[in-house]
Amino acid sequence: MPEVLDALSSRRARRAFSPSPIPAGVQETLWQAVALAPSHGNSQPWRLLVAESESVRQSLFHALSPGNQSWAGHAPLLVAVAAIPANDTVQREPDGTQRELWAFHAGIATGNLLAQATALGLIAHPMAGFDSAAVRAVFAAPPDLQILAVVAIGYPGDPDSLPDDLRRREDAPQGRLPLDILAARDRWSPAHATSMKEYRDRAAGPRA
Ligand SMILES: Cc1cc2nc3c(=O)[nH]c(=O)nc-3n(C[C@H](O)[C@H](O)[C@H](O)COP(=O)(O)O)c2cc1C
Repeated sequence: MPEVLDALSSRRARRAFSPSPIPAGVQETLWQAVALAPSHGNSQPWRLLVAESESVRQSLFHALSPGNQSWAGHAPLLVAVAAIPANDTVQREPDGTQRELWAFHAGIATGNLLAQATALGLIAHPMAGFDSAAVRAVFAAPPDLQILAVVAIGYPGDPDSLPDDLRRREDAPQGRLPLDILAARDRWSPAHATSMKEYRDRAAGPRA
């Protein structure tokens, strides 16, 4: 049985990129994976802002936080994931309140992008560290476009090209919450609310 898990487990948010460009056909495959994401009412509120020209890539790079600028400049492809809330369907609760789904929908679409990139041998590293207004300005996008992530995409490069602190993070363990915290089977318990920080502190044990 083909396992998607095998492909997912090889995905990491790596930072060492090769300068090799990503062929147009490969980029097209990535965007198609995004297009195939499901959404309530098939609303598809997500949009991609692709930095195609070098000048736009540079401008998008400058909208990133300083920490992200320390490595993302080597990625040959930068793309912002955005959403138009007004284009989405809103789910109504029985009490009349509304549940917004646009960020959830864009998140699924981003998951497709990351999985397809990994399957193509690419690194796709999502970032929340950026200035939304600056990203909108780069693409002359309207204020109602919500910028949710910028993704740095490229083929893997030499990890030794990274500064020491980032080099160490390339191979650091992934550190995920165990399934008995993640999945509440039949009944919620306080253990399911354990945060990653609490879990990590507990695993480290009491400090001497
Ligand atoms: C929405 C989102 C925002 C993120 N923002 C940043 C970021 O601004 N800078 C960064 O270096 N990594 C960022 N990451 C990467 C995470 O730090 C990384 O996914 C996490 O540490 C788990 O590591 P792994 O993806 O290698 O398993 C982000 C990831 C996601 C999903």
